[in-house]
Parts: sequence; structure tokens; C-alpha cells
Amino acid sequence: MNKKVIKPEKGLKGKITIPPDKSISHRAVIFSSLANGTSVIKNFSAAQDPKSSLEICKSLGVKAEFKNNNELYITSSGKLTSPIDTLYCGNSGTTMRLVAGVLAGQSFNSVLTGDESLSNRPMQRIITPLSLMGAKIISNNGRSPLEIYGRNLHGITYSSPISSAQVKSSILLAGLFAEGKTTFTEPYLSRNHTELMLSYMGADISINGLSVSVSQSELIPKIIEISGDISSAAYFIAAALLVPNSEIILKNVGLNPTRTGILDILEKMGADIEILNKHTVSNEVTGDLRVKYSELKACKIEGDIIPSLIDEIPILAVIATQAEGQTVIKDAQDLRNKESDRIKAIVTELKKLGAAIEETTDGMIIHGKTDLKGGIELETYQDHRIAMSLYIAGLLCPKEILIRNFDWVNISFPEFDEFFGHLLA
Ligand code: S3P
Repeated sequence: MNKKVIKPEKGLKGKITIPPDKSISHRAVIFSSLANGTSVIKNFSAAQDPKSSLEICKSLGVKAEFKNNNELYITSSGKLTSPIDTLYCGNSGTTMRLVAGVLAGQSFNSVLTGDESLSNRPMQRIITPLSLMGAKIISNNGRSPLEIYGRNLHGITYSSPISSAQVKSSILLAGLFAEGKTTFTEPYLSRNHTELMLSYMGADISINGLSVSVSQSELIPKIIEISGDISSAAYFIAAALLVPNSEIILKNVGLNPTRTGILDILEKMGADIEILNKHTVSNEVTGDLRVKYSELKACKIEGDIIPSLIDEIPILAVIATQAEGQTVIKDAQDLRNKESDRIKAIVTELKKLGAAIEETTDGMIIHGKTDLKGGIELETYQDHRIAMSLYIAGLLCPKEILIRNFDWVNISFPEFDEFFGHLLA
């Protein structure tokens, strides 16, 4: 499906509830599958990626049933069973990397595959540490398909060269099945949903600065309530900040500090964002945001803040085109390994709109503020976050733009269009 985007005549107004967090949804379904009994997941994501995790858990012998109000009941004996077929992860790197960690320590063999984009993403980053734990994984030169031969694993102390929550989670999940203690250390803190949920479900886990340790544990089934996805909220935040006369309220936005880098940066840029009603659900901080149109200034985005806003860099690039001065984004090399090479993708497409933006090896430099022009067609690179970022850029163009293959948004945010409809009405 191609999508036309037209500059709104008025500002965005109204209130929406942000849909469930994708990262937490993956973990809720995978971890519940490892607990003996019935877990209830309230507010499970309707996006394609978490569905890939759910389907795989079902193929591993877990029962899943949706009941009233989008509650997902997961019933498991706590022991997974050998799958009949290959396990398809679709477009989801989180599914592949987390599930690989679980499967490495089972008593059966399995094969993980994915779509074209996922088949090109680096898997050596999990194969290396899992192999050190005693896992046997055959890959296609460090890429999927992954043939996983279940083995008895032993704990390791591993210092990861990259900050990646997917790698960290993969190793910690393998650690739940390994003999002895597994300790994972990362250079900067990546999102910690795994640590919070494992602890909520009774795992033997401890945290010491940038290191986290687990030992063999049985998880307890729980009621898990999933807060809204700040990475989805980011597009509405951007739209309200950039479209004159906007003022919106976003309800139930996950505010885990390992995910709120975008709010810290926007505050420095001069954004008018107020946090309301902050509270904790299922070990995760959540709250509401009031966002108003703001005049923004440029900012440096680098170092330890990068993992906490890694998925928001494409939309931050769009925002930076409207900020006064030079915005520099550094230390974000791993963006080239996402669903697309997100550095190249966003720089190429924003240039087509007339933005003053340059690619660097590990980020980009953006000069603002520039008027974006429209009247052209743009590409999504089969990447949901590029599609949604370009939609926001389109709201700023005097002439209509057309985004090709916009349906990639379904990977993380099938309700995107409908929600924008409410705020632009
Ligand atoms: C995710 C972690 C991040 C992020 C991805 C989801 C997760 O990837 O980009 O969208 O759920 O753990 P890395 O951990 O590989 O940086």
C-alpha cells in the first residue's frame, strides 16, 4: 500500500492511548512460556513482530488464548517441546535472538528462519557468547537460518563489545538453563526490560552497574500488564512538536529510563513536554505526556545515551531538520544493522525532501532549520521506522508526498494511521 501524506491545515489536538510496547510484549510471551502454569498478559501488542514470538511459543508446545479485552492467557508446563517445523521469526530480530538463547539449552534441535531483511542481519553477536556457554549453532556465515542443536550449557562471564538488549537477553535466557552463574557486561546500559521482567517472575538475577548475573531458575507465572511503547509515541511527540498550534496528550507511555533518551534529548532541544501521572506497572515505569508545538534548537546526540534512543534516531533526524543549528548524531553505528541501514535510509530520503543532512560512518550531521519540499515519492526500505519517520516529514511539506509500501508500519504499529486520524481530525 502506498500512502499519501498531506500537510495539515491545523495543529494536532486530542488525546490517545499509546499501544503496547513491542519489546515488553516479546518478553512477556517468551518468559511466560518458560513458567509452569498460566500467565495473563494484559495489553499484548497487536503488531506483527510480537505475533512472531507468540506463534513460535505455540510451536514449542505452549497454549495461548485471547480472552476479553485483549488479555492473552499463556499456559505452559514450563518445559518446551520439540517443534515439528522450522520456526519463522518474520522480520523480528528480537524474536530470533531471544528465542535462540532459550533454544540453545533445550534437549531438542530446532531451526530459526526469518524474512529477507532478518536473514541479512548479524547473528554472530549471539552465536559467539552462546557457543562459549557450550551451545552448538550452525549459521549461514553468521546470519540466519540458525540450526540450533540443544545442549547442556554452562554459565560464563561475558563482556560484550556492543550494547544490545537483544544480545544481553539471549545470553541471560540461556543462563536460565545453564549450570552455574552467567554474567553479562555491556559498555553502556541497553534497555533492561529482560532484567525487570525476570526479576518480577522470580528468577535468580542480580544487577551490579553494567553487569547482570543469572543462575538456573524456574519462573513463576504472573499477571503482566504491558505499558505503551515510547518508540511508537515518538512519532506523535515529533508531530506535535513540529506542526504549529499542536497540543496533545499521550496516555500510558512507557517511561523506563533505559528507553527515555528521546525525552532527555528533546528537553535539551527546548521541547515543551510535560510528564503526568507517573507510576509503575509490572515493574515498569509508565505515565502520560502532554506535548506542545515548540521552537527547537540543535543538540549533540552521542555516547551512553545512544542505546536508550536507538530506535528513535530516524525520527530524531526528522526533528533535527526543524531545529536551529547543527545536530550531530554519533556512536550509532549499529543503526546500520537494523531492519534496514537506517543511517543511509533516512539520510537519503530526507535529502530528497531538501534537508541539509550528511551521512557519517556512525551517524549523521543535520543543519536546521530547513523547509522541506514535497511533491515526490519516497521509499521505506522495508523498514517500519523509516516509513513512520517519513510520514512525519510529510506533515511538514507544502506539497503532498507519497510513501511507497507504507504497510511496513504493521511490523510495530498497525494502528498508526487510525491514531493520526484522531489527532488530525
Ligand atoms: C530491542 C532492542 C534493540 C532495538 C530493537 C528491540 C529489544 O535492539 O533496536 O528494536 O527488544 O531488545 P539491540 O538490542 O540489538 O540494539
